[in-house]
Amino acid sequence: MSEPIFILKGNIIYSKNPAEFQICEHGYLVCKDGRVEGVYQTLPFKMGGNPVHDYGDSLIIPGLVDLHIHAPQYSFRGLGMDMELLEWLETNTFPEEAKYESLEYAQKAYRIFVDNMRKSATTRACIFGTVHREATLLLMDMMEKTGLYTMVGKVNMDRNCPDYLIEETAESAGETLEWIKDVLHRKYENTHPILTPRFTPSCTDELMEELKKLQMRYQLPLQSHLSENQGEIAWVKELCPWAEFYGDAYDRFGLFGADCPTVMAHCVYSGDQEIARMKENGVFIAHCPESNMNVSSGIAPVRRFLERGLHVGIGSDVAGGSTENLFRAMAHAVQASKLRWRISDDSLEALTAEEVFYMATKGGGAFFGKVGSFEPGYEFDAVVLDDSRLAHPQPLDIRSRLERMIYLADEREVQAKYVKGKEISLS
Ligand code: GUN
Ligand code: FE
Repeated sequence: MSEPIFILKGNIIYSKNPAEFQICEHGYLVCKDGRVEGVYQTLPFKMGGNPVHDYGDSLIIPGLVDLHIHAPQYSFRGLGMDMELLEWLETNTFPEEAKYESLEYAQKAYRIFVDNMRKSATTRACIFGTVHREATLLLMDMMEKTGLYTMVGKVNMDRNCPDYLIEETAESAGETLEWIKDVLHRKYENTHPILTPRFTPSCTDELMEELKKLQMRYQLPLQSHLSENQGEIAWVKELCPWAEFYGDAYDRFGLFGADCPTVMAHCVYSGDQEIARMKENGVFIAHCPESNMNVSSGIAPVRRFLERGLHVGIGSDVAGGSTENLFRAMAHAVQASKLRWRISDDSLEALTAEEVFYMATKGGGAFFGKVGSFEPGYEFDAVVLDDSRLAHPQPLDIRSRLERMIYLADEREVQAKYVKGKEISLS
């Protein structure tokens, strides 16, 4: 058990809003019963006597939140990137995901994924598994042991995928039900089920209806893909001529945030109607800039989402993205937004370091509740960054040191990590 009250000392940085950082240099971050009690420049007298972990000149930030990552794709990250989405799925993704029918393969592959997630600056994640119930349970057992807080989904696919991976509709729904029961039986503390219809092209109307029943019975959140690529969007129009727009093809089944928290990855081509519906239904957007570049999808209009008050977080989308390192994802978000502004649409200004940091912490964190900030009452997820490996000759203020971390940090900078007030083993 962690102590009911303990204190971290260091250079504390967090967001209350997308516009600015909150900075407390050489300050105190107090954890009480797994939640943030407060940030103080001088430790209040009444706090004296509680343990203080002094991290010296290190930076202390909220844990990073990955709203979209595929665990089984970790094995082929950085490979086969010269294709667009649909060809990439057929050529790389489906053959690899089929291997997880073997628990032996899943054990070997997920070990690597889970260890690297544990050592990263990520404290929370929404994770896709494969269609396989047993391998997904194995992944959940392994994630639980890390102490990270995750939502993990058994994928559903009953159309438009190879014979070696496709499920019958009833089988897909039945296996999902058995998987949910197994998960509840295991009584995980930090690992939770999330419904995961892969995307509209992979799921029949009947399957969507079955998943809605399961959602209402067990009150489950949902993750999927939305408006990622033009070929995919044209395909959804053919498959669902009755839908007003792509998101409507989920909403017709009640699977677009109306009843339960929902996160949709990409939204590169979401138009006004889709944006309005996401806002109305409280849908979260997982912005995955590196993936959008790698599989030539495009660049999402993130500033428009922020201006319209939508929930936006960051996703690594491995293996569309090549790394689980969310610092890279933040830098990619800034860089992609600059190219979008320069090349195609100067009405949306580029994103700032403040905005992408907000998205990777408090923005995505809101999917998990009061998560991603150091405001009082937030769950105590914190990452301590030792930036001394990256030498510099000039003095740098705290904001500049964080900005540099966004561009340069990886797991080597992660000195300590806490989830809900418990320290995570990094060794
Ligand atoms: N759309 C459907 N499946 C996938 C996937 O695995 N990755 C990405 N990026 N998009 C998808
Ligand atoms: Fe994805």
